[in-house]
Amino acid sequence: MNNIFYPNAEQFNNSPIPDMETYHELVAKFDKDYEGTWAKFADEKIDWFKSYDTVLDESNAPFYKWFSGGEMNVAHQCVDRHLETKKDKVAIIFEGDNGDKKTLTYAQLAEEVNKTANLFKNEFAVQKGDRVVVYMPMILEAAITMLACAKIGAIHSIVFGGFSAEALRDRIIDAEAKLVVTADGAFRKGKPYMLKPVVDLALEHGCPSVENVCVVQRNNEEIHWEEGRDHSYNDLIQKQSAICVAEPMESEDPLFLLYTSGSTGKPKGVQHSSAGYILWAQMTMEWVFDIKDSDTYWCTADVGWITGHTYIVYGPLAAGATTVMFEGVPTFPDAGRCWKMVEEYKINQFYTAPTAIRLLHKMGEDEPSKYDLSSLRVLGTVGEPIDPPAWKWYYEEVGNSNCSIVDTYWQTETGGHVISPLPAATPIKPACATFALPGIMAEVIEEDGTPTPVGEKGFMCITKPWPSMIRTIWGDPERFKKSYFGDCKKEGQPVYFSGDGAMIDEEGYITITGRTDDVINVSGHRMGTAEVEAAIKKHDNIASVAVVGKPHEIKGEGIFAYLVLKDTSLASEALKIDINKIIKQEIGAIALCDAMAFVPDLPKTRSGKIMRRILRSIVKGEAITQDTSTLEDPSIVSTIENIVNT
Ligand code: WTA
Repeated sequence: MNNIFYPNAEQFNNSPIPDMETYHELVAKFDKDYEGTWAKFADEKIDWFKSYDTVLDESNAPFYKWFSGGEMNVAHQCVDRHLETKKDKVAIIFEGDNGDKKTLTYAQLAEEVNKTANLFKNEFAVQKGDRVVVYMPMILEAAITMLACAKIGAIHSIVFGGFSAEALRDRIIDAEAKLVVTADGAFRKGKPYMLKPVVDLALEHGCPSVENVCVVQRNNEEIHWEEGRDHSYNDLIQKQSAICVAEPMESEDPLFLLYTSGSTGKPKGVQHSSAGYILWAQMTMEWVFDIKDSDTYWCTADVGWITGHTYIVYGPLAAGATTVMFEGVPTFPDAGRCWKMVEEYKINQFYTAPTAIRLLHKMGEDEPSKYDLSSLRVLGTVGEPIDPPAWKWYYEEVGNSNCSIVDTYWQTETGGHVISPLPAATPIKPACATFALPGIMAEVIEEDGTPTPVGEKGFMCITKPWPSMIRTIWGDPERFKKSYFGDCKKEGQPVYFSGDGAMIDEEGYITITGRTDDVINVSGHRMGTAEVEAAIKKHDNIASVAVVGKPHEIKGEGIFAYLVLKDTSLASEALKIDINKIIKQEIGAIALCDAMAFVPDLPKTRSGKIMRRILRSIVKGEAITQDTSTLEDPSIVSTIENIVNT
């Protein structure tokens, strides 16, 4: 598929970036006056309480500051400021796993956010700057909790509901959270599942900072109740006032932390700002999703990931849109669930991950044709590269060859999209993220900043600071510098390196080629090999272990572990099951290994460094092109190849 797909002009009216000419003009504006152009958007989009003094402060690079001295509030930006013109407009549509529906208008959302903000403030003494860990299912109260934190200036840190008690505990401790907000559980594929027991376990030992746990009752299953510590949201919310004045927040005050995997060590708490983050969340909703006032928009992510933060809650609400929150899974009760919902709510923008597209394609190739999907205008993908067959099915069967597909490239650290087609403007090449968005200096370069030649793999860097970028790693500024500003330079200055490789073609189109570090992308979720290895090492019989990504038909990448045992006589399928049990306990089911191999040793250099690239090539069935003569034992390569291939 080397074709170019042009936007269907009939689908797009009054788009903010209607054609490539406008795109190039905007890019030129940023080139000519970077700060001035950002300032213009900040003035136009943000409802400032107090205007800022400086657009960009680079005095303490790479700890950049945007719009310093300005005051605003993200909950005000997302909810309160819309009340004048949109109070009766639906802000959020909730659909439960079992199909039950609830909606909140902007006026109702404002009330719920205020009551919840008052609850946190009055009952749990949460103050500006305090950290609140949120371990919630996809229910309205998750979005309300986020906005309530923003309203009073508390910093939320959402932990995805699929993470284990151990993983939750690590994140609570690192953030020194004062309050945990959770739910008894929720529903999934027609059955209840539980979250509160995981919180209980996490708090059992060693979370001294946590004073209170606020529990939303969703599935009403029986749960353990710790008197004095646990409190019912449903009861306490009744007596809260629906009036709450927004805390004036300085532009750079942290809005949230979100833990994500890196190539080494423990997950890092990516810290985002208030003004810069929300500005870009709102602008990309307008540019990339072409969101209009009459649109209904649905992103299928979970609020536990950055996509859920920026493109279920903050971006759509800042833009004053109607956003859908779905508790269930796309394949229940059948593979037509999403298309049924698109028909019912007349969804205009649908945003999901390639993994979901591959699964829906496989399980229900003809399902889309059974529903009226004519409301769709923009189809989005995120989180991992989309392969051409999945792209084609999405375009033809879901979009009826009539929608623009926006393959959005970005990261937890970038806060919002950085490379993406613009649906009314960009001639699209399938499975290609296309061009950097205006204002984002995304470049494919070599370590020294020279442009990577066309058709070759280079480093995906962003060579100027941008408003929604990560500000630091919570509690570890040195790691922030080292992780993102240690590898690449331009004109002698360290620049942001994403950890991804990319390629540029003759026409300037950018294709992301995947991580260059030891991060695996499982179903669009980032998993650090070091984390999985640390979990596996907890098993008594493991002498050493190396984990790599293995191509997977649905998940994109699966996790493959090479295990060296202390006692090789115990190698068995049962041992593999035990190891996965440990992973589930330490991290969660999302990090389970798809396959494992018992090997006598790992390929190590004489200085003891494991040659992961060789291990990656072996699971992919690729020829080994690396020089193996520097290995301590070169013969180990063919030994491992034989084990894996038989
Ligand atoms: C990968 C998710 C190819 C990439 C928003 C990045 C992609 C990581 C794309 C970030 C895309 C994201 N094409 N790869 N369109 N979007 N990625 O932090 O490797 O969960 O570094 O943020 O996902 O994952 P994260």
